[in-house]
Amino acid sequence: MIHSFMDRHSLAHMPPTRFFYFEYEAGQCTSCKACVETCPTSCLQWDDEKKQPYATGLSGIELACIGCNNCEVVCPAGCIRMRGEYKVLKGRYKTPEDKSGDMTLPRPFGPADANKKFQEIEEALTETERIIYRRRSVRLFKNKPLSKDLILRLTEAARFAPSAGNGQPCKFLVVTNKEINRKVDQKCARILKMINWLYAGRDRWRKILITLLSAISANKWDQRPIAAMEKVRMTDGVITFDAPAVIHVLKDKRGISHPDIDAAIAAHNLVLTAHSLGLGTCYIGFIASTIPYVPSVKKLLNIKYPYEIVTSICVGYPKLKYDKPVPRSPASVEWIE
Ligand SMILES: Cc1cc2nc3c(=O)[nH]c(=O)nc-3n(C[C@H](O)[C@H](O)[C@H](O)COP(=O)(O)O)c2cc1C
Repeated sequence: MIHSFMDRHSLAHMPPTRFFYFEYEAGQCTSCKACVETCPTSCLQWDDEKKQPYATGLSGIELACIGCNNCEVVCPAGCIRMRGEYKVLKGRYKTPEDKSGDMTLPRPFGPADANKKFQEIEEALTETERIIYRRRSVRLFKNKPLSKDLILRLTEAARFAPSAGNGQPCKFLVVTNKEINRKVDQKCARILKMINWLYAGRDRWRKILITLLSAISANKWDQRPIAAMEKVRMTDGVITFDAPAVIHVLKDKRGISHPDIDAAIAAHNLVLTAHSLGLGTCYIGFIASTIPYVPSVKKLLNIKYPYEIVTSICVGYPKLKYDKPVPRSPASVEWIE
């Protein structure tokens, strides 16, 4: 059994933080290496001598794991378990409020089913619940194009999402041209590479700069994306994972109330419908967050006022099997009765 990722590790000038860790039990391991292949941050590597995966951060940084659970999900022999949680113990970086209790698999019927396996309760679930619990973010796709009809089936489901005042302020920009997607990747990655460079050293001026930036917008300077940035530093095409289609969900900025919320709801209609059709999806926040700094991406995608990207979604046929629930922190539920 391997335990990796330090419990309280801090990178550069970041505060002490608790990270995920990884457990491996050889058991029925077939050395298929699916766990390593699927790891989006390359922090899981394969030990050829021991014939087992081992966890490592890139460039010696041991916090590359983003806790996506995909290594656990794709293992056909159930050898891997992700444990722990990400928590910034102090400082201004935002993390969710303290949650009491361990992460658990879905418990829709309350504590009575606490010890049951998901498969044992699954029959009593609705189709919608099954789709919600089984959906995973997929970052490894088959090199197989999606038909236009199939993509339009997804945007159709998105169109029927609720919106404030039925304002329907969304537009869907579908990019199946891999060359364009790669160009967008490269341009956005440049920004991430710059941020990575900022984190990389330990000199005083970088410490001051990171502290200042995190004071202005704490949630933009969460240290987890550093993992992705590390990968971005070394490779290209890691933002949209060479997916056969990237669907950008745009809002009309003039929409009433909060068009961002409308766009997010529409996006998730699309994501859940894709899963129900056997497709894999992954939300990509990096494009919306970096696009303000790379106007050439806007030009490339022909995005003009009054439209703005709210989120982008990679869509494709999953290369591996991801259709499995993973544990989550308990819900924070408060009652006023
Ligand atoms: C708004 C949003 C932005 C995200 N951005 C990214 C991203 O840029 N890259 C990525 O690999 N995953 C991204 N994700 C996926 C999350 O990492 C993923 O949802 C989370 O790890 C939980 O895993 P699950 O979706 O498999 O349940 C994003 C998710 C959301 C909701």
